[in-house]
Amino acid sequence: MSKKRYAYIVRKETFATAHRLCVNEWSDEKNLEVYSKCTNNHGHNYKLYVTIKSEVDPVSGMVMNFSEVKRIIRENVVNKLDHKLMNDDVEEFKNMCPTTENVAYVIWEWLKPDIPDLVEVKIEETENNTVIYRG
Ligand code: NI
Repeated sequence: MSKKRYAYIVRKETFATAHRLCVNEWSDEKNLEVYSKCTNNHGHNYKLYVTIKSEVDPVSGMVMNFSEVKRIIRENVVNKLDHKLMNDDVEEFKNMCPTTENVAYVIWEWLKPDIPDLVEVKIEETENNTVIYRG
């Protein structure tokens, strides 16, 4: 049992957030052409999956304490996004279109300083649309 073991752990969190897809520099017509009805304000019930890979601690038997992971995700991500309009309320999206690809990138940047062993941020925006970002 002395061999080093590694494992992946995944924590799921959910939040409800609104956005509109648009590039500020583009005309309304151009945004409508590219993003269609998604250029209007609308919301999603986002499902976020945060994956961490590390050695399983030989004494505690854990990669990272799930309660600590939960606390970090809620403080760094959920509290910033839940029940907000991303384009107007979140600094990072005032000049960056809040597509799920960009949301995954921003969440990665918010989590990485506190979770050095972060390996994946996965977001299910809808039942059919999922984005994965691995840094
Ligand atoms: Ni949307």
